[in-house]
Amino acid sequence: MPKKLAAGNWKMNGLRQALDEVRALHDACPDARCDIVICPPATLIGPMVEVSNDMQIEVGGQDCHANTSGAHTGDISAPMLADSGASYVILGHSERRASYGETDAQVRAKTTSAWNADLTAIVCIGETLEQWEAGQTLDVVGRQLQGSTPDGATSETLVIAYEPVWAIGTGKTPTLEEIGAVHGFIRDALVKRFGEEGQAMRIVYGGSMNPKNASDIAGIPNVDGGLVGGASLKASDFCHIVKALD
Ligand code: G3H
Repeated sequence: MPKKLAAGNWKMNGLRQALDEVRALHDACPDARCDIVICPPATLIGPMVEVSNDMQIEVGGQDCHANTSGAHTGDISAPMLADSGASYVILGHSERRASYGETDAQVRAKTTSAWNADLTAIVCIGETLEQWEAGQTLDVVGRQLQGSTPDGATSETLVIAYEPVWAIGTGKTPTLEEIGAVHGFIRDALVKRFGEEGQAMRIVYGGSMNPKNASDIAGIPNVDGGLVGGASLKASDFCHIVKALD
């Protein structure tokens, strides 16, 4: 079974003072057995790498450009993230797909760029409420999975995050059975495409994961961790989730 991953996505939250939460997380969960990564805003990546230097906490970006450099005002490349000390990058988050019209092909290109910079890509997929209600979840997830991931993925380079868009920041989640069914579907697709390596790839759940539901979600077959937004901002909450995944 893959080692579980607790990934915190701080989104556009956090000034320098928020680094205290990283120290607090380390103090609260010093012996975590799962992998921990926090993806802060780009401004905090370097400082967070310094703070977490001797901790079991890795740092990631929330996006990268597909190119390594060039005239792309406001963007950050994968080598820049790596140069700042990041080891992961979240790609294709639904907020970026919705706000910036990111396509599967763009996410796929960004993933290749991330791999070239030795970053592990956390590729996000998930259906909207409308698609959920229309019973299209597996179609959407299957299409996004195929379109957003390049060939040659390994368990070291790729993490899939299943995030139902309607569960993000809403306090709503699918039932445990429903999450299990989608994760099982993703596992089958990964094995079909990448062979045995697909068994070792981590499939994490995201969408209103919190200290109360984390243990139940962590116990679902093929759930190998969480991509946590709001509940990753406070060390005490995130530590509960880390412990649930341990
Ligand atoms: O990347 C994280 C997800 O969007 C989940 O966010 O835990 O605040 O629902 P949330």
